[in-house]
Order: sequence, then C-alpha cells, then structure tokens
Amino acid sequence: MKAKAVTRLARAKINLTLHVTGQREDGYHLLDSLVAFAAVGDVVHAKPATDLSLRVDGPLAKGVPTDERNLVLQAAALFDCPRGAEIHLTKHLPNAAGLGGGSADAAATLLALGELWDEPLPDDLLKLGADVPVCIAPLALRMRGVGEELSIIPPLPDLWAVLVNPGVPLETPPVFKALQQKENPPMGQVPDCTNAAEFAEWCAAQRNDLQAPAIALAPVIKDVLEALEPSLLARMSGSGASCFGLCASAQDAEKLAAKIRAAHPQWWIAATTLS
Ligand code: C5P
Repeated sequence: MKAKAVTRLARAKINLTLHVTGQREDGYHLLDSLVAFAAVGDVVHAKPATDLSLRVDGPLAKGVPTDERNLVLQAAALFDCPRGAEIHLTKHLPNAAGLGGGSADAAATLLALGELWDEPLPDDLLKLGADVPVCIAPLALRMRGVGEELSIIPPLPDLWAVLVNPGVPLETPPVFKALQQKENPPMGQVPDCTNAAEFAEWCAAQRNDLQAPAIALAPVIKDVLEALEPSLLARMSGSGASCFGLCASAQDAEKLAAKIRAAHPQWWIAATTLS
C-alpha cells in the first residue's frame, strides 16, 4: 500500500568534533568527525500529486531557493523514476550555518519520497552533499572519508546543547580554503561515557579544525563561543558559523539559552537534546 502523505523531521546535524586529516586530488577534504543530531529541524511534508513542486515557508525561509538549486528538488531527481509530489518544506534552521540544513532537508526528502513512491533509496547520495549519507540515519555516528564512511560509536550519554547562530551566513568552500594545515591528527576513539561531563571532557581534547579559519572569516563566531562559555564545552559545528554548548540537563540548557537570548535577541538560539 502506498503512503498518502509523509512528514519527516530534518534534524540539525552537529559536528561535535571535526578533524581534517587530508585532502584528495579532487580537492575534497578527508574528515574524521563525530556527528550527532538535535531534536530541532526543518520539516519536509510530501503528498501525492501529478507534478513535482516545492513550496518553502517557515521562520527561516527567507533566501531559500524554490528551484533546482534547492537540495530537496535535487534529491527528488535522484530517484530512478521520479514521479509527482507536492513537497512542502518548513525552514526552522538557518541556512549556510554548519548545521547541515540543506543536507538534512535532502535526506528527509529522500526518505519521504521513498515512502510515498514506494521506491528504494537512490545510490550515490554523496552526489547531493557530503553530509547527506549521515543525515539519512540520523543518529550519532563517526563519519570519515569525505562523508561516506560511517561507523557506529558507543551510545552517547544523555546530552543537551544550546545551539547558536549569529545570523552571518558562511559558505563552506572558503572556510576549507582558509585552512592552512590540511593533514592533521585523527579523532581519538570515542569512549563509552556514562554522563555528559565525562563526555564533554573527552570532546574537549578533540578539535574542530575549521574553527580557526572560520573565525578568521567571521570574527563574530568568537563572540558566540564566549557567550556559550558557561556550558561544559563550547565549539563550532561544521564550517560554522553555528556553535554549540554542551549541557548536562535540560534545565542547564534552557537557562543558558535564555541568558544568551536576552543579551543577543537577534541571534538564532535553540536548547535541545542531542542523540
Ligand atoms: O558536499 P557539500 O556540498 O556539503 O560541500 C560543499 C563544499 O565544501 C564542497 O564543494 C567542498 O569545497 C567543501 N568540502 C570539502 N571536503 C568535504 C566536504 C566539503 O572540501 N569532505
């Protein structure tokens, strides 16, 4: 039986660590990253229709393309026999923000259309973006290669975070380009931690190699990290400019989010679980 309509949450992707370990001949960088997902995200709703169409709305829809530049339509085109569907994307995540918004939207679209059309997922999801394979799960995984090598890690402890984006879009290629040392040590083995503090301590000994080059391009990231300082660990996600602060409880995360919101009402801020 074919589905009538399908709704999928495109959860924000957080790089708890992001080690750049090399560069391939085609220019893509080799990564070693611990990726987790927030409970907040965009929403993809797909229902049967004769033609394929995309409508985008939501609090952060401004500037998001509704034509083929949108990864949602590129994801639909990747199916062997794309058919009609009315796709409605509600944007809650900032764009070009290091939270994998476009990749999460693409992954949620693939899952929604796969169910709607009763079709297997297409091959070569990497074509849509390096973060698309990990966003298909979406659960905490170690990501290597250029994003295609995914491996299971010990379960994360109960973990909360405050996510902050200062509203400065930062495209990924210039950040990679500004990274001077391309060959850096890999991430350590992810330990089996029983609590958030222990996990944050391990995480603090790892890195996001793109943080320094991103700060050089968008110095406001430093202010974001300073605002997140009261958390267990403050770090940038992906190629920025969003940062996260790890917290041990929902109350700690809500309290810190409220404090930052009061000081920076124009920033995008979310308190969430991570898993
Ligand atoms: O794959 P995605 O579209 O997210 O990547 C955007 C850009 O980021 C790529 O065009 C490339 O310049 C850079 N990138 C990279 N190495 C990766 C992932 C992305 O150099 N592993």
